[in-house]
Amino acid sequence: MNNPLLSPNSERHDVIIIGAGGAGMMCAIHAAKRSRDTLLLDHSKKVGGKILISGGGRCNFTNRGAGPGQYVSQNPHFCKSALSRYPSDSFVQMVEKHGIPYHEKKLGQLFCDHSAQAIVNLLQSECADAGARFRLGSQIQGISQELLQTRQPGENGKNRTSRFRIRTEDSLLECESLVIATGGLSIPKIGATGLGYQIAKQFGLNTVTTAPALDGFTFTSEQKTLFAELSGISVDCMITCNGVQFRENLLFTHSGLSGPAALQASLHWGGTNPGSEVSPPKSIEINLLPEIYSFQWFMTRKKEGSRATVKNLLAEILPRRLADRLCELYFQTQVQLPLPQVSERTLEAFCQQLHQWILIPSGTVGYNKAEVTRGGVDTNELSSKTMESKKIPGLYFIGEVVDVTGWLGGYNFQWAWASGWAAGQVV
Ligand code: FDA
Repeated sequence: MNNPLLSPNSERHDVIIIGAGGAGMMCAIHAAKRSRDTLLLDHSKKVGGKILISGGGRCNFTNRGAGPGQYVSQNPHFCKSALSRYPSDSFVQMVEKHGIPYHEKKLGQLFCDHSAQAIVNLLQSECADAGARFRLGSQIQGISQELLQTRQPGENGKNRTSRFRIRTEDSLLECESLVIATGGLSIPKIGATGLGYQIAKQFGLNTVTTAPALDGFTFTSEQKTLFAELSGISVDCMITCNGVQFRENLLFTHSGLSGPAALQASLHWGGTNPGSEVSPPKSIEINLLPEIYSFQWFMTRKKEGSRATVKNLLAEILPRRLADRLCELYFQTQVQLPLPQVSERTLEAFCQQLHQWILIPSGTVGYNKAEVTRGGVDTNELSSKTMESKKIPGLYFIGEVVDVTGWLGGYNFQWAWASGWAAGQVV
């Protein structure tokens, strides 16, 4: 007997997932394992494009310590349910089942020993085993929805279901569950688009203002003249932005600040509540010598009888070019004096600068380089258990398109796996 929820002349599936990235494939695996007829659509010809370029080609596929504390969202509680039901260990088990060699780099970050391609292969083969199918190079032209009342509650206990129609350039598709896994706006050249946000808007769902994140900072033109020549220098530092601190490496580039420290800080630069009325903090604070209390260190050198200049001494604990530039900028008058002739008050003030170097960057680097997009579909619109829209039955949003953004270090993939898994249990 024909399913009355579906109309003739169109291709029918139980579940259609738009976006064959990490979140979409994870959802497809688990939906298809439940014998749901599952189709993944993607406009790209290759699946998992972001996985392939992630982690320097080795994919930092999860973080052993992933928990809600490492995510930025207007609702910091939203990610708890999915992350606790699909923790990093669950993904590690899949990696081990597929015999993929991996290692822990630092701070719980797990990377493939060889190529990120192994993670894409894993997801594709799990999809194939479960029976999920792919349709790549598929341009979505429009989506419509019809709300249907059923006499008896469905699998999810609800008696309202939807029929979605998805028009592509060469087919009309229908499904009961539509999952949006189109990711964010970062790296348009590998296929990022704002389709997920447009779909949310079309169905009346609120979105939290989006911004590039995990992308580092750009210098103002004045900072460029002062610091461009430091390009290539990398230092261990403690960086603070909007009250959140990271101990990571900072890399000076010719146009700004990069490296893990700057990437982490850039996630928080716009405030923890993107889109909120509160104006975002614009400064970052850098402790260039997190291991040493520099004033004490200089005083010890003085007691030992050192007659070196502060500039030369500082070059023992910071890269020479950086030490020179900081002294020229913040220690001008006494820069050539031997240590015993330097006023302790001036030295202490200078040391304070080294531990609390405050910069106001002109902006962040932008979507062409950003690892993620902060903001997205408002979590108030979704069930934290299933990722289903509260307004539109059968419509789900998973992965980066949702307003849940992880720190650098494997947290974003963990969110993609966990949210994809959560939807995969119910679609
Ligand atoms: P993702 O972006 O992966 O997938 C979305 C899919 O939707 C794509 O296949 C795209 O083609 C498709 N799509 C988009 N628009 C469409 C349209 N209009 N029609 C049809 N299909 C459409 N994270 C981490 O945890 N560890 C790491 O090592 C890294 N490293 C890293 C490096 C770089 C350079 C980047 C850019 C990002 C990372 N990330 C990361 C972040 C991580 O890649 C990202 O958070 C996840 O891939 C998000 O997974 P999703 O499946 O949600 O989106």
